[in-house]
Order: sequence, then C-alpha cells, then structure tokens
Amino acid sequence: NKQVLVAPSLLAANFLELGREVDMLNRSEADWFHLDVMDGRFVPNISFGLPVIAQIKQKANKPCDVHLMIEEPEKYAADFKKAGADILTVHYEACIHLHRNIQQIKGLGMKAGVALNPHTPVRLLENVIRDIDVVLIMSVNPGFGGQSFIPQSYQKIQELRQLITATGAQTLIEVDGGVSPENAAQLVKAGADVLVAGSAVFAAPDPEKIIHTLRTSAQ
Ligand code: DX5
Ligand code: ZN
Repeated sequence: NKQVLVAPSLLAANFLELGREVDMLNRSEADWFHLDVMDGRFVPNISFGLPVIAQIKQKANKPCDVHLMIEEPEKYAADFKKAGADILTVHYEACIHLHRNIQQIKGLGMKAGVALNPHTPVRLLENVIRDIDVVLIMSVNPGFGGQSFIPQSYQKIQELRQLITATGAQTLIEVDGGVSPENAAQLVKAGADVLVAGSAVFAAPDPEKIIHTLRTSAQ
C-alpha cells in the first residue's frame, strides 16, 4: 500500500503566528506546504503572494506546493520559482497554451501541476497527462477555505486514475477542498496520492494529530 501524502493549506493558518505555524508543520508528519495564491480575478478572493511565500520558504523544511489561482500564470512562473516554489500548479481554465505553460514550469526547474475546477472534465488532459507531474482535482470551487466537499469529485479521481494507468504517466493525483478525516480514506481508495487540507488541520485543537490521522487514514 502506497503512502498518501498530506499537504496542509496555510490559507487557514493564523497569519499573526505564521512562524509558529511553519514550525508546527516542520515538526509534523506533513509532506508538503500547500500555498494558495489568489488574484481577485480568476477567483473572487485575494490571498497572499510572493513576499509571504519567500519568507515561508526560508523556514520550511518540506517542499512548497504553490497553487496559483490567477490569470496569466505564465507571467509569474519565474517569480514563484525565485520565491521558492518546488511544485507550481496552474489552472487548466486559466491557460490558453497549457502545454507551453507546463514546459515553462519544468524548464524553470519546478514540478508542474495542473488544477481542474469542479466542472472541468478529466479527459481534457488526455493529450498532456504524460507531461504533468501533479493533477490537482478541486473538490470545491476555488477561492475560499472551509467549503463543503463536492461528492462528484470521487468519480473524477477514479477517471483520472484510469487515464494515468492507461497512458503510463507518472502523475500524482492531489485533492483540494473540503478534505477531512471523514472523507480521507474514501479519497485514497478512489486513487488520491496527495490530500490538501486547510480548515480540517488548522481549526483543530491539535493540528499535528489531524495530519497524522489524514496520513494514516487509508492504512
Ligand atoms: C481553495 C484552496 C484550498 C483551501 C482548502 O481555493 O485551493 O487549498 O485552502 O481549504 P479547506 O481544506 O478548508 O477546504
Ligand atoms: Zn489550494
């Protein structure tokens, strides 16, 4: 049985205690830091950007997984590399030239991720799947933490697993939105490799324990 990875989303962290939150994640069993960047254009919310990520990177002892919910992500890929992104994920819906954007990200020395909004079918990736390191299945509409999980996401994960198997791609399946200890086991069973969790981790009295629970949920 493969180990599922856990990527806590710092969107739900206490920004006044960000250093303490990073220390907690460093100590915990978390695998990646998930960092949500929103531009107020692609999504109806604005979060944080380059200077915040650059400072987190100085303290973080795990890969930084940067989820860009922004228009024209190609304009900023080099800047996010400089800020410390190890995995850079762009939205399918924000990319006119997705293949080019994926090559750009990999050419800069990062892993390339592609995120799909809830309405975007998995099959639209069939001609690029072998070039993608991570597919991020959005299981809520992007823009906010704390929303409820959309159950149709299970089927999308299964379809993506089939596409990856059929094409021999090495792509990881990451799930983001409404992930909690209640649905973690079923997500892993459907084919998820990486679980993103914001409010489930940071609103818990003992975040490290929730991270452990998520990580061991399918064993
Ligand atoms: C939503 C972000 C998520 C968000 C998840 O647009 O991409 O990463 O932080 O938060 P929860 O886990 O609370 O749904
Ligand atoms: Zn995210």
